[in-house]
Amino acid sequence: MKLIFRLGGIAALVAGLVILAVLPFATSFVEQWARRDVELRSRLVFSTARDQIVDLMVRNDTEQIDRLFERVATDERVLAIGYCDGQELLFPTKNMPGSFSCAQAARSDSETFSTIRADDRDVLVSAFPLKANGRTGHLVVLHDMSYVQRRGAQARNYIFLALAGVALGAAALVAAIALLIMRRWLASVRQAIENVRAGTPPLPHSDDLPAIGKEIHDVLQELDATRRTIDAAHTDWSPDALRAALSNELSGSEVIVVSNREPYIHNRTDNGITLQIPASGLVAALEPITRACGGTWVAHGSGTADRETVDTYDRVAVPPGHPSYTLRRVWLTEEEQDGYYYGAANEGLWPLCHIAFVRPVFRETDWRMYRAVNAKFADAVVAEAKREDPVVLVQDYHFALLPRMIRERLPRATIVTFWHIPWPNAETFGICPWREEIIDGLLGSSILGFHTQAHCNHFLEAVDAYVESRIDRERDAVTYGGEETLIRPYPISIEWPPAALAGQKSVEECRAAVRQRLGLPPEMRLGVGIERFDYTKGIIDRMKAIDTLLTDYPEWKGHFVFAQVAAPTRSKLANYRQLQEEAEALARDINVRHGTEGYEPIKLLVRHHEPDEVFELFRAADLCVVSSLHDGMNLVAKEFVAARDDEAGVLILSAFAGASRELAEALIVNPYNAHAMGEAFNRALTMPLGEQRERMRLMRDQVRERNVYRWAGQMLLAASRLRKRQRIRRVIAESRRRASAYA
Ligand code: G6P
Repeated sequence: MKLIFRLGGIAALVAGLVILAVLPFATSFVEQWARRDVELRSRLVFSTARDQIVDLMVRNDTEQIDRLFERVATDERVLAIGYCDGQELLFPTKNMPGSFSCAQAARSDSETFSTIRADDRDVLVSAFPLKANGRTGHLVVLHDMSYVQRRGAQARNYIFLALAGVALGAAALVAAIALLIMRRWLASVRQAIENVRAGTPPLPHSDDLPAIGKEIHDVLQELDATRRTIDAAHTDWSPDALRAALSNELSGSEVIVVSNREPYIHNRTDNGITLQIPASGLVAALEPITRACGGTWVAHGSGTADRETVDTYDRVAVPPGHPSYTLRRVWLTEEEQDGYYYGAANEGLWPLCHIAFVRPVFRETDWRMYRAVNAKFADAVVAEAKREDPVVLVQDYHFALLPRMIRERLPRATIVTFWHIPWPNAETFGICPWREEIIDGLLGSSILGFHTQAHCNHFLEAVDAYVESRIDRERDAVTYGGEETLIRPYPISIEWPPAALAGQKSVEECRAAVRQRLGLPPEMRLGVGIERFDYTKGIIDRMKAIDTLLTDYPEWKGHFVFAQVAAPTRSKLANYRQLQEEAEALARDINVRHGTEGYEPIKLLVRHHEPDEVFELFRAADLCVVSSLHDGMNLVAKEFVAARDDEAGVLILSAFAGASRELAEALIVNPYNAHAMGEAFNRALTMPLGEQRERMRLMRDQVRERNVYRWAGQMLLAASRLRKRQRIRRVIAESRRRASAYA
């Protein structure tokens, strides 16, 4: 309403200014018109009386002249009449102003009109040449012009009233039109809001949509188009493509990655400070992404020389030698690590989510430490953020509470959380004493990602079962505490081509080198398994399968060796120590039972291997086994495929690893079934090269296309779409607020 009054007021003001500008012209026009009228009357007087005057002058009848002049002067407009003989005024009528003299009248051979001031009023003096008795004088007729001014003033009043009437009418008309446009505009904005809310596609272009509403529709259409282009661009993801997508979609945005494990660990050794790249799928996936995006990676500084290599702000530029992003280290005390990392994360959440039949341990003291460490990382993220709306990529089960903590301090941040391990079904998750707090923490995210749709579904079931929220099943979105979180599957992957492949020798050379190092004859068939020494990986189970193979197919004795690389991990925990002991004992037992002089079927290599060594092993192998009892994705499987540019080699893959959804051409096994897995070993060892190539080619295509740049690209583009939607929502909310203030 205010707006309507304002517009009406503006229209009235404009009309008023027009009146002010027009009024003087109108008045002067009226005055000129009145003067011409008076001049005409003077002429009439002169032409009517001229002959009579000349006649009376010839007769020198002054008395009659006086009478005639007095008679003419009775006309209400005529003030006085006289005759100028040279400078002498003759026969002046009685109303002739005393101050008037013939010198004041402009005289010439033709009629003249001039205005003089006499007795405080304007007087028009008309002078007409008149010849009598051989002499030329001038008849002067004086008109009182004050009535002209009165008429001008009157006209001004009338015109003013008329124009004011028109102005008021125009203002009312403008207000009525504005009211009409406003109503349509509001209806259109409301419609746009409803469309955004309902998630329905924008309305098609229509000429009669009011401009603002149409603009909103256009932005939505653009958003829709962006989504289609991005969805179509699912091939050819590379660092450049990711960088291009980021600079198009998130230009000027600040990216902060948070994980527990740091990508580069500095350790003090006898040879000085050495650099270690940890054996972690998470690091393998995120490091190339952060290199491509730049930004900051916040992580626990766990190396023995980490403190010596940071600046005063606990930052170090990495990768060493070619820095492209900042690693910000967070320091944890031994007590914090025990409670948060070993306790809550790895004795509680890890076994809870993996269902590898290791009982989770939930200690309240661990949970308190977990909460405190999450808060410590929230402080670090807030301190590193240069803007109020960074894109924060929170990684994994170490930070279930962090998204909420960041959301509270940076409400405009786009928080994308990725849960790198499986999410169990709601019933299993329900045993966790911290289940509500974990869900609440994760729902602080803008987007929450899992490897598979099944994990997303499990999470939604848990939300449904344990917190008050609204779940939109069609969009896989949860509205909780007024905020929306999108739940999405993003299958993680590896960089393509992998950096570790760059320096590799030919497959033949790798085969020869590895066999020589392991003390094996050149023709020995070789299987490999490479992972952290973790009970979820099914290391014991695959050894049992090898036992079965050598029992059921004894012809492989002496002709097949399995190299198990196991990087020690979380050794502080009893479960991990026991696993290592059990695996070593089982390997010894199998080697005793199936080995012969100079032949050990299982080679257990318990140490961390750098990526180059891992890739050399992959290239040297005939088969690779990934027999996880449960795994979010498993990148070892993908790395093996990526390492085999000769398209040979067989992958034996657990049905319970997320990777089995994508790598369907592997030999898919149930790791709990030792007999069937033994059969799979035999099948792999006897698979013709043609079949190996066919399978490997398809798997390589899959890993090439669905590489880690696509994983990150899809998440970041989803974040960008969300930011655009939120921007539009803010614009709409603002225009709605304004509209309701006006209405
Ligand atoms: C694997 C899992 C990740 C996890 C990491 C932790 O890579 O897939 O989800 O974050 O292990 O390993 P760490 O050695 O840091 O405990």
